[in-house]
Formats: sequence, C-alpha cells, structure tokens
Amino acid sequence: MKISVFGLGYVGCVSAACLANEGHKVIGVDVSKTKVDMINKGRSPIVEEGIGALIKKVVREGGLTATSDVKSALLKTELSFVCVGTPSRPNGDLNYDMIQRACFDIGAALKGKKEKHVVVIRSTVLPGCVREVVIPALESRSGKKEGKGFFVCVNPEFLREGTSLKDYYDPPFILAGLDAKRNGSKELRAAYKNIKTEFIEASIEVSEMIKYTCNAFHALKIVFANEIGSLCKSICADSHEVMGIFCKDTKLNISKRYLSPGFAFGGSCLPKDLRAMTYKAKKEDLEIPLLGSLLPSNNAHFNKALEFILSLGKKKIGVLGLSFKEGTDDLRESPNVRLVENLIGKGLEVSIYDKNVSLAKLFGANKEFIEKQIPHISKLMKSSPEKVIQNCEVIVIGNKSLGKDAVVKHAKKGQIVFDLVRLFDKPGALKAKYHGLCW
Ligand SMILES: NC(=O)c1ccc[n+]([C@@H]2O[C@H](COP(=O)([O-])OP(=O)(O)OC[C@H]3O[C@@H](n4cnc5c(N)ncnc54)[C@H](O)[C@@H]3O)[C@@H](O)[C@H]2O)c1
Repeated sequence: MKISVFGLGYVGCVSAACLANEGHKVIGVDVSKTKVDMINKGRSPIVEEGIGALIKKVVREGGLTATSDVKSALLKTELSFVCVGTPSRPNGDLNYDMIQRACFDIGAALKGKKEKHVVVIRSTVLPGCVREVVIPALESRSGKKEGKGFFVCVNPEFLREGTSLKDYYDPPFILAGLDAKRNGSKELRAAYKNIKTEFIEASIEVSEMIKYTCNAFHALKIVFANEIGSLCKSICADSHEVMGIFCKDTKLNISKRYLSPGFAFGGSCLPKDLRAMTYKAKKEDLEIPLLGSLLPSNNAHFNKALEFILSLGKKKIGVLGLSFKEGTDDLRESPNVRLVENLIGKGLEVSIYDKNVSLAKLFGANKEFIEKQIPHISKLMKSSPEKVIQNCEVIVIGNKSLGKDAVVKHAKKGQIVFDLVRLFDKPGALKAKYHGLCW
C-alpha cells in the first residue's frame, strides 16, 4: 500500500519504519525540517532500540521517505496515519492544536484529490475528538463530507517506549474504530496484513475510549502495587513475594472478574477489609490514597443510583434482588439493603423480591439477621416477582438472581426498569422503558 504518516515522533517513526519494513511505500510528514532531513539521510530522530538500523534499512531500500509537503504526500498515498502530539493543557484537557493543524492541512490537500482517501487517527485523543475536531477540520478544508470521498478511522497505538518495535509486531490486538458503514476496514487490514493478532472492529467512540481505559488501568495497577508495597514494608512482609503470590490467582485477581461495570460493591468482606486496611495505614502513618478512595468512590456510585431513582419522582418502587450479588442470601452491607432503606426514608413505597433471601427468611443462617437487623425491610418482601413487578412504577434490578424472563413477562408499558447490574444486554424485548446504571 501507499501510506503517509503524519508526525515523526515516537509513534510516527516506529509506525512509518515498520510499515515500510512490511513492504508498504511510506512517506513520513513532519513540520520539523530537522526530523524530515534526518529520516531522508537514513537516521532516526528518536532513540529506541532497533529503530536506527530499521530506518537506515528501509530508507536505503526506498520504502521510506520524508517530506514537509503535505499535498504531495496526500496525493501519492491512499491512507494517512495521523501520529502528531496531543499534549496536556495546564488544566488537564488535551491540546488539539497539532491534530487540528494536521487535519486542516490534510483537508486542504484532499480538496484536489479525486481518489478515495482514508485518514486514520493514531494519536491518543479523548472520546468525541474525532467527531468534534478531526472530521470538522477535514470537512471544512476539503469541502467534502466524511464518508464521501474520504473516510476517518481511529487506530490507537499501544506501543511502549523502549520496546516499541517488539510491541508493533506483537500487539495485544489491532483496534479499528470505524463509522457505521465500516469504511476504512479493508485498507487498515491491508496495512497490517502481516501482523498476527486479533483485528477488532468497534465504533469510533469505543476505540477512542479504549486507549484511556488501558492507560488508566495500567496506572491503577502500578499505584495499587506501590500502595500494597508500602503496607508490606510497614509490617516487614516482602512486597514482591506478596504480589508474586497475588498474581498467581488468575481466576479472580489477574482475570476478567470484577471488570464489568455494574452496581456498588458490598457484602461481608470487601467493605470491612478495606476499612481495616485503611485504618492500619493510618496507624502506621502511611498514605494510601488509592486504597483510601475505594469506599468513597463506591459510595459516589451508590448515590448516583439513588439520586436517579429519586429524580424519577415515582412513588412505588419494586426491587428485584436484595443481597449484594446473585447466588447468596448474605445481606450484610448489601448496597441493595441500603438503597431500600434510603428509598423508604424518602417516603417511597418499596416492595422487594429475592428468591435466596425469601428462603433464608424461612430457615437459612440469615434468618436471625433478617428478623433482628432488618425487620423493616423483611416485611416489604413479597413471595413472587410478579407481586413486585405488577404493583410498582419503577422496577430496580439489584442483582442477577431472578434472571430476565420474569421481568420481560411482567413488566409493562408505562413502567421504568432501572437495571443496576446490566442484566439486560439488549433491553429490546422489554415493554417498559429501560435505563441502565452503567449502560
Ligand atoms: N510516545 C508513546 O509511547 C505513545 C504511545 C501511544 C500513543 N501515543 C500518542 O501518540 C501521539 C504522538 O505521540 P509521540 O510520543 O509520538 O509524540 P511526539 O511529540 O514524539 O511526536 C509528534 C510529532 O508530530 C509532529 N507534528 C506536530 N504537528 C504536526 C503537523 N501539523 N503535521 C505533521 N507533523 C506534526 C511534531 O513535529 C513531532 O515530530 C500522542 O497523541 C501520544 O499521546 C504515544
């Protein structure tokens, strides 16, 4: 393929050199004459293992050239990767000046181009940037409409400085953020045809969000390990041994578990253990802001759900699922119990169904807890889901124990289903109006 790469920094240099090495004819474009000259002399403008030799090779073979002339690069290529910088502003927002400038220049060059062209945003941009900044800039200067004459895709870069060549050839996946008609998919697949990994197609917004989700999680992991390390040091435990054993649990720890957005956590362990850890840190004069922020964050998430229900202005609320998760009758620190207490405190009429708790009420180990600790809630429980669903205005799904069928069967038009746990992936089958907490 004939490919132009805009921005010859860390991402652009590696992408341009690797694409050329894969047999594509690549033109690098940068506003920096120094970088353009260096590339044309076969020298790397960045320090990165292996990049010097690779640039020397692909330039010598004629696979990579560089220029500051946007128009000629655009006219000679069919696909452009935009890899310009997106630095922070002092307030934390992203500075899109470079990406906008590059898109204005590309747009102006597209004006005179008859053939189809694909513009791929490889820089890291916040969700919304492609639709709010990139496409308007390209359309305003080209006089063309995205989807007609040119197409825009998002293809975030996941390489790490220091190992970027290896990362290029062995990425976790290649992500293509595409418009509804999947324009550009064919060209992107062709650009990466030799990379053996999963090629994932998603919407533009999902693709923009993925990069931030990954980086936030990486930062979270580092801070988590460091805070655990500080606690370990204070009690003379070897932090590497602790984390080494922790990482051996690939069922709950290093796994997909607990990574689905849903309702607040609760139960008899997580809140208690976090309180104990943060108390221990306080006693040791240790700062563990991440671990200390978990209960407040959980609380904020709980409040979001409560405020939404109250904002509906309805009187009769049916709660399906009272325990903190499906498959248990344990009500200790269940956010659903707290939710019900708040709703009745606000004068709303609440009815509840939870199969496991109903059984516990009769003979389980929780019978005493229910009778002594939450008699006010126990008396709101009904013997069947129909009795709850048919007599309320808002149906709150608090855990997944009931399943979808009863809700689909009994919920009716005019009711609102508020799904805290994403029981419904596709709420299409529901007659009631659907809201998800983390949709
Ligand atoms: N560095 C990384 O490890 C890494 C990894 C993944 C994603 N990213 C993201 O990729 C993007 C680029 O990062 P980087 O580290 O390569 O940046 P960089 O600052 O090293 O390089 C950016 C290049 O863009 C050039 N440029 C600026 N405006 C231009 C224009 N209008 N036309 C052509 N060239 C222009 C600059 O001269 C510079 O050479 C950023 O959004 C960054 O967040 C970086």
